[in-house]
Amino acid sequence: MTEVILGVETSCDETAAAIVTEDLEVVSSVVSSQMEMHARYGGVVPELASRVHVSEVIPVISRAMTEAGVGGGDLAAIAVTRGPGLIGSLLVGVAAAKALALAWGKPVVGVNHLEGHLASASLGEDEIEYPCLVLLVSGGHSLLARVSSPGVYAVLGSTRDDSVGEAYDKVARLLGLGYPGGPAVDKAALAGSDVFAFPRPMIHDGLGFSFSGLKSAVALRLRRQPDSRPEDVAASFAAAVMDVLISKLESALEREDFHSVAVVGGVAASPLLRKQLAALSERRGIRVCLPPLTLATDNAAMIAAAAWPLFRVSGGDALDFGADPGLKLPETA
Ligand code: KG4
Ligand code: ZN
Repeated sequence: MTEVILGVETSCDETAAAIVTEDLEVVSSVVSSQMEMHARYGGVVPELASRVHVSEVIPVISRAMTEAGVGGGDLAAIAVTRGPGLIGSLLVGVAAAKALALAWGKPVVGVNHLEGHLASASLGEDEIEYPCLVLLVSGGHSLLARVSSPGVYAVLGSTRDDSVGEAYDKVARLLGLGYPGGPAVDKAALAGSDVFAFPRPMIHDGLGFSFSGLKSAVALRLRRQPDSRPEDVAASFAAAVMDVLISKLESALEREDFHSVAVVGGVAASPLLRKQLAALSERRGIRVCLPPLTLATDNAAMIAAAAWPLFRVSGGDALDFGADPGLKLPETA
């Protein structure tokens, strides 16, 4: 049988498990979302999130293994997100993965959630050509990285304040569109027009990002003109975000020779962004790789995919590694 890794992800409000082969074929991927429960509170409640992970983690792992038709003895290793994320949530996944590793006599690999997102682009249909310019736009992070080969990367720029997903979620709250905000703001934006000239923060200022000023500009507009059409506010906000993201990608492409571009993280599910990326790809004659829609937001297939190159080098981690809520993306190139 082909070698497979079991991935486990519990860093925020999704309990996820997946089975992925060495060739990065996703044999199964199960995601149990707590979104509905947190929506009532307008955002993730950490204590509730960890309690649900406790009850969900083993059933979700069993489902992923049953769907893939594999048992504990068939695994090459167990990969688990060790950070960054909510500490209580991370601890549940790490404890479960270690317990199963001990029970089945298998190695365990601690994975950085951000490395997982970077690896998710390899799970799409397009073959990534290296060096690849990766834009990571999730709820917790926004950054640009150069990936020289799988697992070898350098951060080129990141956000100074809010991430793109966070800005989407905050604007959704201001517009009363509920949680999570990304899909709701996108939907409203499609029905509106870009009539408000919102700022494009740091658009010509290096490869870093800043989105808190844009969110404040939206709040100010709504305070001054409470009768503004929400669809137009959403469209104007999304247009500003898209301009910044596309212009940062263009700047990075001007600076260095990349053979492909990949966009990953929850915001990569945005149809508006996907449309702009298709235009960029055409304009620049460069391939833009995207994870399948279901693997753009948090999942465990990306954790298993990121674990493969680590496992090949180390054979697994010592069992005393801990969960680290503030884990940074290590520079490896
Ligand atoms: O990667 P992810 O699932 O979780 C983190 O690691 O943070 O990203 C979640 C973020 C949320 O902020 C959500 O609003 C945003 O991704 N998102 C979207 C869309 N779907 C999810 N943003 C824009 N358009 C979407 N369709
Ligand atoms: Zn994530």
